Amino acid sequence: MAQASGSPDVPDMGRRQFMNLLAFGSTTGVALGALYPVIKYFIPPSSGGAGGGVTAKDALGNDVKASEFLASHQAGDRTLSQGLKGDPTYLIVKEDKTLTDYGLNAVCTHLGCVVPWNAGKNKFICPCHGSQYNSEGKVVRGPAPLSLALAHLDVTDDIVVLSPWTETDFRTGEDPWWA
Ligand code: FES
Repeated sequence: MAQASGSPDVPDMGRRQFMNLLAFGSTTGVALGALYPVIKYFIPPSSGGAGGGVTAKDALGNDVKASEFLASHQAGDRTLSQGLKGDPTYLIVKEDKTLTDYGLNAVCTHLGCVVPWNAGKNKFICPCHGSQYNSEGKVVRGPAPLSLALAHLDVTDDIVVLSPWTETDFRTGEDPWWA
């Protein structure tokens, strides 16, 4: 009757993975130090027209500029940024080399690991317990009970802005579980 199945450290594992993914080639602690003092990223509602929106941040904590981002990413790329509430959020490049109008929250709906994109399998596959999500983040295999959360993505003055998605989830036709 062991009670060791609670796995309280699973979210920590997810966080470490997120940091690893975000740290890209950086081997210093500088990138990590820059990630968490996330104080300035809320946009005043009067300045952007995207109420409740935040600017997506890259691994160094800088605003993601759409032109630079698209110049350095391929169609089909799914790249982690820091989005709403600081959550790791995928930015997705479409075939026409523009960004999708949504970002995908990378936090697994099972126990919170950050779910990596597997380009070869064209799915997000969670390393923690094997949940899978299709290329739009819709859950296709458990134990995750729900699809990855959506955020609206807009480009304002070349800055990528993420804002809360409160409408119907276009993948399921249902109300958003995260709103
Ligand atoms: Fe369990 Fe992702 S956290 S499958």
